Amino acid sequence: MHPAQTSQPVPMLDLKRQYRPLHQELLEALDHVLETQQFILGEPVAAFERAAARQLGVAHAQGCSSGTDALWLALAAAGIGPGMAVITTPFSFFASVSAILRAGATALLADIDPGTFNLNPATVEALLNKPQDTPVRAILPVHLFGQCADWTSFARLGKDHGLKLIEDAAQAWGAEWQGVKAGALGDAAAFSFYPTKNLSAAGDAGMVATNSGEVDERARMLRQHGMRRRYYHDEIGWNTRMDGFQGAILQVKLKYIDGWNQLRRTVAKRYHALFHAAGLVEAGPYPSHGVVLPHEVVGSRHAWHQFVIRTPRRDALHDFLAERKIGSQIYYPIPIHLQEALKGLGYREGSFPEAERAAHEVLALPIFPELREDEQQTVVAAIAEFLS
Ligand SMILES: Cc1ncc(COP(=O)(O)O)c(C=O)c1O
Repeated sequence: MHPAQTSQPVPMLDLKRQYRPLHQELLEALDHVLETQQFILGEPVAAFERAAARQLGVAHAQGCSSGTDALWLALAAAGIGPGMAVITTPFSFFASVSAILRAGATALLADIDPGTFNLNPATVEALLNKPQDTPVRAILPVHLFGQCADWTSFARLGKDHGLKLIEDAAQAWGAEWQGVKAGALGDAAAFSFYPTKNLSAAGDAGMVATNSGEVDERARMLRQHGMRRRYYHDEIGWNTRMDGFQGAILQVKLKYIDGWNQLRRTVAKRYHALFHAAGLVEAGPYPSHGVVLPHEVVGSRHAWHQFVIRTPRRDALHDFLAERKIGSQIYYPIPIHLQEALKGLGYREGSFPEAERAAHEVLALPIFPELREDEQQTVVAAIAEFLS
């Protein structure tokens, strides 16, 4: 039998390794919620919001029920709605676009930078310089895979064109752009605490962050059916509150997230060393036969939510790794503009060549704080075998 076929399995993510050392502390936090019976919002969520805002360096944070709802809340609280267009990326999780549509606004897409997979400011600027049927009022860059979008350029575009900047920071807890944390860069930001995220809840949860007192006040009102006073509805909001259990769990994990993100950096660095030692690395942005590695943009701090390589025979490599029980994931196989549900946006194949090419070449490898060096060696050895 081939040596790689007898090698150890490597999980894409193993949350049990994070849970075991926190077991007692998490149980005590959950017990406190049960003792106080504060199941929705209340002190467990308020305490998490204060600690989270402090850690991000923002004035306000509002816990809510998912990252998807956080995006909708951030947009709606920033005053985005019908008759306004928002520019975002076609290469992200679906919610980056569907939240714009849920807010009643028009979604306009612009192509990505092939080196970072993030929304390209140059394609956004080209769109802003063309007449649009619906006036553009905001840009929604996504800090994809934990790497901040080029905020220097987006801040300039926002200022020049009088636009709101909404961050999709769902994948970017702990990322920084020139010393400022993701979540503190724009007018409002949305985080997801979906269990696979760097900072994760025990179920669905999300959060809006903002430096604006007005956005904060509106987000709090909109997450509770548009109520400022109980049973007096000023606007049509929605029920998108955070559960007390999630607030309690997140408050515990917040104490450890910087250390976990530091370990993710170590894992990313080790992948770089292992791939270079194996002679598999090609200069980017496009691969021809080997592997193009992700890099940290100068002046920024990558949160290494995902470690995404580019490789030309991606699907075959994905299958090869799966046969050896080595985890890998394709984020994302179909760009958002080619999704069945969004045909109505009017885009087609060829509309965004960089996003479409990335969708054929990207492969996320296992990365999490507790991933061991021997497991990484197994991953890289299997890829070397596939490419040999
Ligand atoms: C970039 C991005 N935006 C939005 C979301 C939505 O977050 P949630 O799954 O918590 O609704 C996610 C997470 O899946 C995401 O990765």
